[in-house]
Amino acid sequence: MRIAVILGTRPEIIKMAPVIRELERGRGNYFILHTGQHYSYNLDKVFFEQLKLPQAKYNLEVGSGSHAEQTAKILIGVEKVLQQENPDLVLIEGDTNSTLAGALAAAKLHIKVGHVEAGLRSYDRNMPEEINRILADCCSDYLFAPTEKAKTILLGEGISEDKIFVTGNTIVDAVYQNLEIARGSVNIINTLSLRPQGYFLVTVHRQENVDNRPRFASILEGLDAVATKFEVPLIYPVHPRSRKMMAEFDLRPRNLRLIEPVDFLGFLQLESSARLILTDSGGVQEEACILGVPCVTLRDNTERPETLEVGSNILAGALPDRILEYTRLMLNKKNNWVNPFGDGTAGRKIVNIIMGV
Ligand code: UD1
Ligand code: UDP
Repeated sequence: MRIAVILGTRPEIIKMAPVIRELERGRGNYFILHTGQHYSYNLDKVFFEQLKLPQAKYNLEVGSGSHAEQTAKILIGVEKVLQQENPDLVLIEGDTNSTLAGALAAAKLHIKVGHVEAGLRSYDRNMPEEINRILADCCSDYLFAPTEKAKTILLGEGISEDKIFVTGNTIVDAVYQNLEIARGSVNIINTLSLRPQGYFLVTVHRQENVDNRPRFASILEGLDAVATKFEVPLIYPVHPRSRKMMAEFDLRPRNLRLIEPVDFLGFLQLESSARLILTDSGGVQEEACILGVPCVTLRDNTERPETLEVGSNILAGALPDRILEYTRLMLNKKNNWVNPFGDGTAGRKIVNIIMGV
């Protein structure tokens, strides 16, 4: 069985790493096809280095662009590689433009598609990711659902049960495999002169939050208010999209510590020692839940409802008062919830299923 692993962005690299690690154990004839959607060192190469991933055999170097432009370039590039390599299966992860284009190119060539992290839905079609997820699931032959809830969603959309496999989320594997390494090998807390439990961690990068000036301004105002009210440093590793939009909108948060995006081990350390996390990231909502850190999500919906159900997360939206109020609420929360995303063996399960073990 020849497998093409397609990835293109930071979260895909991190979440595909446990699958690649399994394939590396001599279990499969595979190659990595990087779309080049992310290309800055701190969004891309740093993760290959730190997670000790083999280099991609192909990099399409599509770079940034409008949705149509980027998706189309990936589609064209992936098709060429797949025609040349003729794999039996293509693996895609998540909900980015790389995910969708990879799935579509493969399906049109009648190559089987396996979707890692299938069945997530925010039910908000204004999010580009929601369109990508739905279409990627439609193109897939193996749907690796992280939870029973995701499986139920897929069944509800008419996808046949024999294509759906509940494996857990590979982010649990990634956290378990790297947390101890992170604790032993990096010291970003000291470098930033922080105290464990003495700061909040922030990430905000979703298009619908940061490309809309009033909404981004409102979130930053809420975060400024949180920093003032609770008298803690708020550490914000700024995604390049957010950096660009802050400059374009001339937004200058007063009380946030803006830093460059952090490598995975450093970020895991920052997350695990934070008193609280405020985010709009999908992966960070999951990691907060896995690490036992309360999370305030700066969105009106989430495709990770499991985190709301276990009580690790709350949806605060973008209004400053609500952000402040929900921060207070989550600070009073006991962090004794159970991680709903699996036991850290998703990568192995996925490879077993593919190999028919
Ligand atoms: C993409 C995904 C999003 C995911 C995020 C992970 C889509 C539709 N969106 O959003 O789901 O949460 O990745 O981080 O696929 N840029 C750089 N360097 C890079 C990449 C991007 O500077 O390596 C800047 C460019 O100005 C670019 C902007 O960031 O225009 C946005 O990049 P893009 O790939 O379009 O989307 P993300 O916001 O990264
Ligand atoms: N992450 C990281 N450094 C950072 C911010 C995030 O390594 O500075 C990791 C984080 O641990 C998580 C992933 O990036 O695994 C989440 O990616 P992102 O928020 O970009 O995308 P999303 O999950 O929202 O699609």
